[in-house]
Amino acid sequence: MPDGKNHEEYVVIKAKENGVTIIGLTRGKDTKFHHSEKLDKGEVMIAQFTEHTSAIKIRGRAEILTKHGKMHTDE
Ligand code: TRP
Repeated sequence: MPDGKNHEEYVVIKAKENGVTIIGLTRGKDTKFHHSEKLDKGEVMIAQFTEHTSAIKIRGRAEILTKHGKMHTDE
C-alpha cells in the first residue's frame, strides 16, 4: 500500500444474473455497510480494498477473480 490509501489488490466481479449486489464493509472496529453497487447480468466491477473498505460482500450469482483464484457464489 504505497500511498497508504489503497491496498493494491483488485478484485473482479462479473454478474451472472441481474441485480447482483456488491457491498463494501467498513475497516476498523465497527463493521458497517458503507457502499453498495448493483450489477446487471454481464456487467463487471473492478474494485479495491482501501482505507475505508476491508471486506466486500457479494449477493447473487457472480464470478469473482482475486489473487486467491477464481470462484463463484453458489447458485
Ligand atoms: N471492520 C472489520 C475490520 O476492519 C471488517 C471485517 C474485515 C470483517 N474482515 C472481517 C468482519 C471478517 C467480520 C469478519 O476488520
